[in-house]
Amino acid sequence: MVLFFWKTKIKNIAEDFCIFVVSKKNKMSLKRFAFLLMLLFMSLCATHAQAYMNDALPPSKRAALLLKKMTLEEKVGQLCQYAAPGYWQDESQSANIDAHAVSPAAQHIIEQTRAGHIGSFLHTLSLQEANFLQRQALQSRLRIPLLMGIDAVHGNALHQGCTVYPTNIGMASTFNPSLLQKIGEETANEMRATGMHWTFSPNLDVARDARWGRVGETFGEDSYLVTCMGTALVKGLQGAHLCYDHVLACAKHLVAGGEPYGGINAAPMDMSEQTLREVYLPPFVAAVKAGVVTVMPAHHEINGIPCHANRYLLKDVLRKELGFKGFIVSDWMDIERLHAMHHFVPSVEMAYETAFKAGVDMHMQGDGFFETMVAAVKEGRIKESQIDETVLKILDMKFLFGLFENPYVEETPVPTSHRQTALEAARQSLVLLKNDGLLPLQKSDYQRVFVVGPNANSQTILGDWSMPQPEANVSTVYRGLRDYLPDVELDTMFFENKIFSVNAAGIEKAAQKAAQADLNIVVVGENSQRYEAYGRTCGENCDRDSLSLPGMQQQLLEAVFASGKPTVLVLLNGRPLSLPWAKENVSAILEAWEPGMMGGQAIVEVLFGEVNPSGKLPVTIPYNVGQVPTIYNHKHSQYSRQFAIGQTGCLYPFGYGLSYTTFSYHDGQLTKTEMTADDSCELRIWVTNTGDREGAEIVQLYIQDEYGSVTRPVKELKGFQRVDLKAGETQQVKFVISPEELKFYTARRRWEVEPGDFKIMVGSSSADEDLTVFKLKIK
Ligand code: BGC
Repeated sequence: MVLFFWKTKIKNIAEDFCIFVVSKKNKMSLKRFAFLLMLLFMSLCATHAQAYMNDALPPSKRAALLLKKMTLEEKVGQLCQYAAPGYWQDESQSANIDAHAVSPAAQHIIEQTRAGHIGSFLHTLSLQEANFLQRQALQSRLRIPLLMGIDAVHGNALHQGCTVYPTNIGMASTFNPSLLQKIGEETANEMRATGMHWTFSPNLDVARDARWGRVGETFGEDSYLVTCMGTALVKGLQGAHLCYDHVLACAKHLVAGGEPYGGINAAPMDMSEQTLREVYLPPFVAAVKAGVVTVMPAHHEINGIPCHANRYLLKDVLRKELGFKGFIVSDWMDIERLHAMHHFVPSVEMAYETAFKAGVDMHMQGDGFFETMVAAVKEGRIKESQIDETVLKILDMKFLFGLFENPYVEETPVPTSHRQTALEAARQSLVLLKNDGLLPLQKSDYQRVFVVGPNANSQTILGDWSMPQPEANVSTVYRGLRDYLPDVELDTMFFENKIFSVNAAGIEKAAQKAAQADLNIVVVGENSQRYEAYGRTCGENCDRDSLSLPGMQQQLLEAVFASGKPTVLVLLNGRPLSLPWAKENVSAILEAWEPGMMGGQAIVEVLFGEVNPSGKLPVTIPYNVGQVPTIYNHKHSQYSRQFAIGQTGCLYPFGYGLSYTTFSYHDGQLTKTEMTADDSCELRIWVTNTGDREGAEIVQLYIQDEYGSVTRPVKELKGFQRVDLKAGETQQVKFVISPEELKFYTARRRWEVEPGDFKIMVGSSSADEDLTVFKLKIK
């Protein structure tokens, strides 16, 4: 409207002016001429000031117009992200290991926002605060709205009342990328409804050390599976085209943090180019191809260069090789850590400049960066044109998302259908590790059930990156049982919902209760809740030197088992646990990971056979911690020798998971047994449900290149399909074997197919005994 008004006005004034100039006979006074000139000047100024507000112009054009109006300080402000003031006031943050980091006073943050010196916030935990902060930003000279980021890692779970889906390790167990894409879309929808525009997700770390606390945040140990799941999530979050109802995704953490020395978060990685290219980079390559618009470097150093200062990684690989066009946000305080933690540069100021020059665009959290960057430009160490380039990328996103037009959001209820998706995801994420016939349980067989364990009725079922949710929204195992078995006597012992509250006296009491019950359900594992001050055993910065049950949970399990009553073990945990005793003794073990807000219901449905379990392990479960790393795609020489004392083989292999039905693989064939390196063929195999109930099988394709210019792994996952089969039903499953599946990063430092012999394997897990093998020769 305003624009139209001024355009018309200018046209009129210009016409008047021309008439005056060209007309010899004009009678206009000098006074009127001067007035007209002044009006023309003012109009031009006003129109120019508004030009970037013209939403008919393309975002990049608007960004360029806005940039011209910005002072250096305003530009650098766009590169600064702060944690929202409310985040610091939230008591739960006292548990955050990083809470000791600079926590600037709220008033200071608000003033900086009004001055246009802050361009983005993270961890705004309420819609009200998001709107409040936007109002402050819109008081700044150029009224540039804020970009709101948050770790919506498995749903917008840091916001109360939002849908909490299973954590990534559980989602990977579904081997169902399209379900994850749907979750991405729903998450984006809930984020926008709370004023959030950007999630620091997907986590594309390939987790190859079970001690590392962040395994639960990942899609497991296999690069291909991480790639498939991560790409699906990017597509779900960002949509086909980035626009108002979707959010920015962030591929993190670049790169290779999933195998730190000693399993300790942020510890260094010495990484061969080979492993980097073959294992850790592919999920990022695919995410960039899928259009991911932001990337976050990792905490650690690679081969001596911290990722936040790693030009090779951020510029040569990410930008030049992969063609990444979006912007790079630092991880929380990781620029400061170039100085304080890595001892890479002798001052924090140097850290800021080093990270920026290496390619980091936006600084996450706190003061210091702003002042340093402004000074660096003024003193000539950084060119303003470099700042401009960076600012444009960020402004572009703000325009693209319509933030200038719609900076505020109104309260909207979370769609109830999302809960149904969370339930379906939880059902598919559960992995049945052992069943000697006790499962599925028959409702009518049990009158008195004892539910015991610190995880049986707590919000640890939600996993990391979740704030406490309203009780009514969280289906715990106990609640699931209570709803499913309204007429059964449920005896309980929850140990205050705390793993470390399990003690000898409690265990004795539990043993007595177990003896009086006719079914025991033991719910133990780990705790990833980041808002807990004490009692966390898992999650970010919660690494372990053991993979046994923390605290006295193992003793609890053994005491309950000793009752002689049927005992089911349900594990709620974010990283693999090595429980050989349980495998040997307990009748049934369900690996539930962290199945989210509908987890309890899904677990009970599986235990009682309402749902047939179908999840498969996205990680190898070691026999004990000393075996780590235990990846399934190891080299041939890895186990050419055995441990002299102790077990060499793992407890459960990658891709493993039981069902209540059985599947047979038969009549398989490769359409070609020989072909050239640029040719393709198909593997076809029939899968039959040979049991008496319907079920889903995850058919897995592995390939082994028998000899290579660089030694090859014993097998590598190259395809999978989820197949739903009714009892007795048969279906043919087909996989294309093309150069894409056969190539590797050869000694010539490029991706190519080398002629030779290949094994093409298909089956129900990565274990040799579960696979049918075909031979393929590449000429
Ligand atoms: C984590 C990131 C996360 C960031 C913001 C960091 O400590 O490593 O994954 O996105 O915090 O919460």
